Amino acid sequence: KTPDNHVPRDPRPIRLTGIHPFNVEAPLSALYDEGFLTSPELFYVRNHGAVPQVDDASIPDWEFSIEGLVERPITMTLKQLIAEYEQITVPITLVCAGNRRKEQNQVRKSKGFSWGAAGVSTALWTGVPIRELIQRACPMRGAKYVCMEGADKLPNGYYGTSVKLNWAMDPNRGIMLAHKMNGEMLRPDHGKPLRVVVPGQIGGRSVKWLKKLVVTAAPSDNWYHIYDNRVLPTMISPEQSANEPKWWTDERHAIYDLSTNSATVYPAHNEQVSLDHRRRSYKVRGYAYGGGGRRVTRVEVTLDKGKSWELANIRYHEDDYRENLNENEKLYGGRLDMEWRETCFAWCFWDIDLRIEDMAMADDIMVRAMDESMNVQPRDMYWSVLGMMNNPWYRITITKEG
Ligand code: MTE
Repeated sequence: KTPDNHVPRDPRPIRLTGIHPFNVEAPLSALYDEGFLTSPELFYVRNHGAVPQVDDASIPDWEFSIEGLVERPITMTLKQLIAEYEQITVPITLVCAGNRRKEQNQVRKSKGFSWGAAGVSTALWTGVPIRELIQRACPMRGAKYVCMEGADKLPNGYYGTSVKLNWAMDPNRGIMLAHKMNGEMLRPDHGKPLRVVVPGQIGGRSVKWLKKLVVTAAPSDNWYHIYDNRVLPTMISPEQSANEPKWWTDERHAIYDLSTNSATVYPAHNEQVSLDHRRRSYKVRGYAYGGGGRRVTRVEVTLDKGKSWELANIRYHEDDYRENLNENEKLYGGRLDMEWRETCFAWCFWDIDLRIEDMAMADDIMVRAMDESMNVQPRDMYWSVLGMMNNPWYRITITKEG
């Protein structure tokens, strides 16, 4: 029995920190092979501390509040939330801001632990749009932010952060309070029984074990909002940043939208690629995602370090849900809230057949994605002290057989 958790574990995910707190990512190939939706067994976990224990009998009575600059503060139970509001279901990819940090740590050690490229997972989330609850509480003049707080008590207080109020009120941003993933109750590690899901933004904004929404005039002053999930200017070293509060309190450094990103899954690092010419081609495959609801519109692969590029095929599994709304509603319960929305909150898969002859002559394969606003992954890494938002071209060395 581990001190912070009481659920059986899939043995495959790789531990990134000790048992306490619990942080895991799946082997990249296992994550990709599972397909568009990630099972809770392989879903990445990012916990800052112990998982709050909730026994099943008391779940309906889980209470959360909406307070602060509102005319009608509300305290509500999960049972009420489910009974009084229409439930919607949306496929949303969560990504830790530290995804791919390992590559940064190899260049220069940052303050964070080494995520590979599997700090990303997708589920169908079921719950209630946050705007409906905030509307009911009636924000006052001067209200600009929604602070969110979880039940996990950490060394620096409860985990909390904030988003802008106008994002919370915008149906296109899809921010929701979720109590199910892939049609089942949330697992303890993922916020059982209630969490926020902020689509298109870094996972750190999606507060788990939700207890409180506080409408405020200023961004959250929670320790984890200020000292986590930021990209400080690149010249700030770990030593400097520790003594300089002014670097941390500048809200301009806080990360919200994810950056455009992609990774190659096959071939894997160190995979022995058979370069037997009779095979003619190798199907290079991987994933990509954009930020802020922007769709990935282009994925390109190079075998000559960026001198020339080839276009990969992109598969948007998300659209399958748009096309089969009725069928999927029956499967997962809750109206699929996608019919009208053009925003894209989920990862996509790409592939490209490369000629074995060309691969045999190359040292490496690099990939980059572009989104609908033409944001393209950069060639160079932007190193920063927390090691976040790493998204340069993803590189795999071709390990030749024999
Ligand atoms: N919410 C609480 N209450 N406590 C946490 O430690 N971690 C955040 C976010 N919400 C966290 C939290 C971070 S940094 C990420 S990336 C996501 O939860 C991870 O969600 P997951 O573990 O369900 O994948």
